[in-house]
Amino acid sequence: MTPSHETRINADTQAASPADKRIRIFDTTLRDGEQSPGATLRPEQKIVIARQLAKLGIDVIEPGFPISSPGEFAAVQQISRELQNVEIAGFARAIKGDIDAAVKATTDAARRRLHLFISSSDIHLDFQLKKSRDEVVNIARAMVAYGKRFVDEIEFSAMDASRTGREFVIEMVEAVIAEGATVINLPDTLGFALPEEYGAMFRAVRAGARGADKVQFSAHCHNDLGLAVANSLAAIAGGATQIEVTVNGIGERAGNCSLEELVMAIETRKAAIGAETGINVGEIYEMSRMVSRAMNFPIAYNKPIVGRNAFQHESGIHQDGLLKNRNTYEIMDPEAMGIPRSMIVLGKHSGRHAIKHRLAEFGIVLNEEQLQDVYDRFKEKADELKIVPDDVLVRLASESTETQHD
Ligand code: KIV
Ligand code: ZN
Repeated sequence: MTPSHETRINADTQAASPADKRIRIFDTTLRDGEQSPGATLRPEQKIVIARQLAKLGIDVIEPGFPISSPGEFAAVQQISRELQNVEIAGFARAIKGDIDAAVKATTDAARRRLHLFISSSDIHLDFQLKKSRDEVVNIARAMVAYGKRFVDEIEFSAMDASRTGREFVIEMVEAVIAEGATVINLPDTLGFALPEEYGAMFRAVRAGARGADKVQFSAHCHNDLGLAVANSLAAIAGGATQIEVTVNGIGERAGNCSLEELVMAIETRKAAIGAETGINVGEIYEMSRMVSRAMNFPIAYNKPIVGRNAFQHESGIHQDGLLKNRNTYEIMDPEAMGIPRSMIVLGKHSGRHAIKHRLAEFGIVLNEEQLQDVYDRFKEKADELKIVPDDVLVRLASESTETQHD
């Protein structure tokens, strides 16, 4: 019997308790994700993807960077008009022209926010902005105040926050909260932070910045060291209630925190993490395929959740366990995410039991002698082909039964 999703869950994946935090998922596939080399989308492709993001239950969609081109502006505008059940973020540097474009492009959204950013680390201030800390705080303050004239919800991002001195992050955050920022995002722009450091930054800023208790905190992690999901979870433990993600983890360089990995980590380890999201996990697979196709961006075979091999098992020992009870070697239910199941891959590590089971799925029942014969010839095929497709296995079985009838 195939156990249901509920019976398959482990001890710490019970339903969220009323005390659990609701994590808001902010998707930036169409802005930061699109900055992935070669992943540019046409406006009409953005609209199709945004519809699927809304179906997935994303809380905030960042559809692009309105000032960057007329096509980008038009895509943000059309998504704002069409998707009235999701909050839309208008992205802007801390520059009046950017803010004007973002405000205009999102005017027709049912719910919207302005997402403003400026760098905070000394390396960015000295070499890129060529401004002092005081100058940058004054710009941040003035631009939040300017944006607030048009939009109530203002997200402020201190770019490269994780490589910025703690005191200065606190000073900047305090300044923008005083001007009306409502969401504070502390990005790990270069994917440099370690989970304990990143979580500690959230704790320190929440404890140290005046007004921090009135705003939401957000994490935005890049994956240069493969730590984006771990860092995002550390931010949740440190008090963040919004996580910024991209589908398939696409984005600059090694990408951003992967939506599907983050959401499924929270879903699968709900009780340990003490949080839940509003994501409709049944749409995850479709979302992933759609973005991969539109961006011409292949998904690594071993990518967690959506990779080809994520729920496939080749070893005979694992296959034997799975056939007895799926919990033996699976912690998630692929069907729950809309992933078509073919859990057992037949290759040189597969055992007799798995072959017998797969043939039975085709209505082929062999006696012991026939099974041994198929098994021996199957192993030769597996050396040759690596993965033995079902049609080849069925052919081996019919050859075996025909020979034995002769
Ligand atoms: O990585 C980053 O710092 C960003 C911000 C501008 C939000 O993408
Ligand atoms: Zn980013």
